[in-house]
Amino acid sequence: MPQTIAVLDFGSQLTQVIARRIRECQVYSKIYHYSTPAAKLREDNVAGIILSGGPQSVYAKKAPHPDPAIFTLGVPVLGICYGVQLMGHFLEGEVEHSKAREYGHGVLTIQKPGRLFAGLPKKLRVWNSHGDKLTKLPPGFRAIGTTENSPFAAIEDAKRNFYGIQFHPEVFHTERGGDMIRNFLLGICAVKAEWTTRDFITQAVEKIRAQVGNGRVLLGLSGGVDSSVAAALLHKAIGKQLTCVFVDNGLLRKGERKAVEKLYGDHFHIDLRVADAGKLFLRRLKGVSEPEQKRKIIGRTFVEVFEKSLKSIGRAEFLGQGTLYPDVIESVSIGGNPAALIKTHHNVGGLPERMKLKLIEPLRELFKDEVRRVGEALGLPQEVVWRQPFPGPGLGVRVMGDITPDKLEILRNADAVLQEEMMSSGFYYKVWQSFCVFLPVKTVGVFGDERTYDYVIALRVVESTDAMTADWAKLPHDLLQKISSRITNEVRGVGRVVFDISSKPPATIEWE
Ligand code: XMP
Repeated sequence: MPQTIAVLDFGSQLTQVIARRIRECQVYSKIYHYSTPAAKLREDNVAGIILSGGPQSVYAKKAPHPDPAIFTLGVPVLGICYGVQLMGHFLEGEVEHSKAREYGHGVLTIQKPGRLFAGLPKKLRVWNSHGDKLTKLPPGFRAIGTTENSPFAAIEDAKRNFYGIQFHPEVFHTERGGDMIRNFLLGICAVKAEWTTRDFITQAVEKIRAQVGNGRVLLGLSGGVDSSVAAALLHKAIGKQLTCVFVDNGLLRKGERKAVEKLYGDHFHIDLRVADAGKLFLRRLKGVSEPEQKRKIIGRTFVEVFEKSLKSIGRAEFLGQGTLYPDVIESVSIGGNPAALIKTHHNVGGLPERMKLKLIEPLRELFKDEVRRVGEALGLPQEVVWRQPFPGPGLGVRVMGDITPDKLEILRNADAVLQEEMMSSGFYYKVWQSFCVFLPVKTVGVFGDERTYDYVIALRVVESTDAMTADWAKLPHDLLQKISSRITNEVRGVGRVVFDISSKPPATIEWE
């Protein structure tokens, strides 16, 4: 067992972010329920404890309280936000209950750097989100940092190695917060920085094997990063006990199905089943041009096809999913309603319950960039690991209006040219997304001596960090020129190429 840091979870949305910061320091951590008995932590030989934040007041009727004996284990403890209140409450300080919460930026003035703030500048911007406030230090403690509103923004009992910080070091808004956590781990808890992606994989493999036993796992493979990494990880753990299903909905990009078959079937030797449902999707979409209706039809048909193909595979106990730790984006206002901004994961229409499958989600605690690292370590190629996002409804929302096989063919060919040029110029990995949109508008042109009357392709290339906002990418003119002339020359049916120069907001990234 590696040296373990215990994170006691008191219900904060940020507990997983703390775990992530710990991983960034190459240290292993485990999230425990707040009520975990101290004896269990001793048994697990934890090298330090972090008390997470939490939405409650320590005085609330059902306030989550830890086993008080955690303070007698003889290991360092770092209380964050609610964690400091708990220290005040359990170690004989005083905590003042306040109905109003204090949110937002504050300036921390470090009075005594000690080991927690070693190497940090004297003043730092920090992020607050708390209600109650420590008003009297517990015996043995001293203040090591203050903010405008709190003389006890950071406290320490260097003898017992107890530290408390009122603000959130784990969020991006707190300057050098990662260094504070690093100081706690490597300095105060004296653990070694040696927990790597490979260790994560080894442990995940063990966990999957223990969970699955001799059972069978089914997994819907979309070809995107998350499901690809989940597939590779599950396959490493249980090999032939994994069966993947890839739904060809007829709305895929050029060569996509072949690439998936080649990589997972031929290269990884994964038991891959392809549900060939393109005709069904197109039949149902025939004549439908309203975007929401198109999405609904595609979504419903997907669930139906997926469920049917899972049933045809035979008995299985588990459904694997590439769920990531919900994207609690660091720009999320902690004071607002983070839940509203978290992208919740959608089980495929209640399918696990209907089919009596247990979910297995080996990437559940990871963030996107960590998943990419795991993918790389598992040997997935760069074009999978660093693939741009692609919407579930696929080209269905990139052919404007009603969808026909001919329009899809034109879009596929134009998009293939764009991607080729994005790849060879190196811009593919520099932008967030780059794709073509088919416009069902015919415009006049000339080709040789002939007048033409052909469709329009729009290029949509955007930069973004989280898809919440986006800006159109300022691609070099010679690259745009090459893309445009190649599309009009090589793709039959296209007479004009336009470049979308709209930002999000007000425009969305996709056109439908
Ligand atoms: P918009 O168009 O809303 O897109 O600015 C934001 C991001 O989400 C992707 N997107 C989808 N992804 N299913 C998905 O899995 C969908 O229905 C869907 N619609 C949009 C889009 O490509 C962009 O990255």
